[in-house]
Amino acid sequence: MLWKASFAALIWLLAASAADAYSRDDFPPDFLFGGATSAFQVEGAEEEDGRTPSIFDTYARTAFGMSGGYGNKSCDQYHKYKEDVELMAKMGLNAYRFSISWSRLIPGGKGPVNPKGLEYYNNLIDELISHDIQPHVTLHHSDLPQALEDEYGGWLNRRVVRDFKAYADVCFREFGDRVKYWTTMNEPNIFVIGGYDGGILPPQRCSPSPVNNCSKGNSSTEPYIAAHNILLSHAAAASLYRKKYQEKQHGFIGINILTFGLLPLTNTTEDLDATERAKDLLMGWILNPIMFGDYPDTMKTNVGTRLPSFTKTELDLVKGSIDFLGINYYYTSYIKNSPPGHQVEGSSTFTDAAVEIVGGMFNATTPRDLQKVVDLLEQSYGNLPLYIHENGQVTPRNSSLDDRPRVKYLHGHIKAVLDGLRNGSNVKGYFVWSLLDVYELLGGYKISFGLYYVDLNDQNLRRQPKLSARWFSNFLHRRTIDPELPIELEKNASMPSLHDVI
Ligand code: NOJ
Repeated sequence: MLWKASFAALIWLLAASAADAYSRDDFPPDFLFGGATSAFQVEGAEEEDGRTPSIFDTYARTAFGMSGGYGNKSCDQYHKYKEDVELMAKMGLNAYRFSISWSRLIPGGKGPVNPKGLEYYNNLIDELISHDIQPHVTLHHSDLPQALEDEYGGWLNRRVVRDFKAYADVCFREFGDRVKYWTTMNEPNIFVIGGYDGGILPPQRCSPSPVNNCSKGNSSTEPYIAAHNILLSHAAAASLYRKKYQEKQHGFIGINILTFGLLPLTNTTEDLDATERAKDLLMGWILNPIMFGDYPDTMKTNVGTRLPSFTKTELDLVKGSIDFLGINYYYTSYIKNSPPGHQVEGSSTFTDAAVEIVGGMFNATTPRDLQKVVDLLEQSYGNLPLYIHENGQVTPRNSSLDDRPRVKYLHGHIKAVLDGLRNGSNVKGYFVWSLLDVYELLGGYKISFGLYYVDLNDQNLRRQPKLSARWFSNFLHRRTIDPELPIELEKNASMPSLHDVI
């Protein structure tokens, strides 16, 4: 039975790779292929060795019953990092994108450094380097120390800029001899919309109403304030890096955003204009200040005095503050004009922009859409070095090791990156989200994107390669398919659509 399944999977893989074939050698030799995770989602050991809670911990415990249970192990990478690095090395990865837990390194959010936190990240980085895997480090991935949230409201208070800069200083000083790629923030654009407008992401704030679970917040002002302080924090860290470390350490600093393919629902002028406003909101909000020195005009007009403004000194820091841009890409969304005065359900920022995303954020994707996003960014912001920091496909967590839809997704999207490179794009690397089945942001342990299945019922949290891990590894090793690798089928669960699982 098993060999039949393996044989079928093998034939399928060969067929899949015959059509639209390409190989690792078609990419520039210095193009990076990596896997990605984030601290809270992969480390576990939340209460060990002096780590204190972050806003991600608080969210995970209460996330509206959406998360499917919260345990304190996750993938336990804190204890299993050696095993995981070995797995990455065997797979042939060139780079690993992970984040540092601020509250593990500096448990109070500010003040003394935790020697155990320092030791853990030093060990992880050394292990990566000794296996010839480049560490690409993110400083904030939805996990501000809860202590700072409690003390002064976290990203809503200007005091966070000083504390983030001090945290970044510790990271650059302690790890910068080996870490050459620093990303200050992960997806600030969606972090503020989800966290301060919709209330569905940490720190779960929004204007309380009968249709949401928020007990505090103000959706019409807080997303803009939080984004402003995030931009200032990013800029303070980038400027520090450039002044104090870059010359010695020869590294690069950037920021990351979640991107979408954005398509007008219809070809009417209203929907076409709405799509431009959606681009301003979803990308320009963060990127225009950094690349052009101010928020997009449509936002200034529509948000008015609720949109904070930059002083001249702040702008000098913000403008030009990245060496590269990291993008996360999953899906394309359809945009519809929402007439002024009409309230877009559950969102003040979309109401301000007078746009609606039809059918939620996650519609569908074709690999070509990723290429279009890259083209759009390069046309709008110049030929900045780009890293695809996240791309991958969601499935229910305990579905099947035979994840051929994911193989198809990855195969197609990597091909799209190659087509883009052949047309002159400046993409420098591609990271699969996620290396392992981590604790997922919007679904806890119910859904997963991993190349490796992590069995939560197994005491050792055994990692098992899915078909996608084998496909990716074969691609990186310039092999077609290794017939020695049997495809074990777990359960024959069917794959529901994303709307069924989120
Ligand atoms: C976005 C986030 O960066 C990551 O935390 C999340 O798990 C994935 N993409 C999938 O939604």
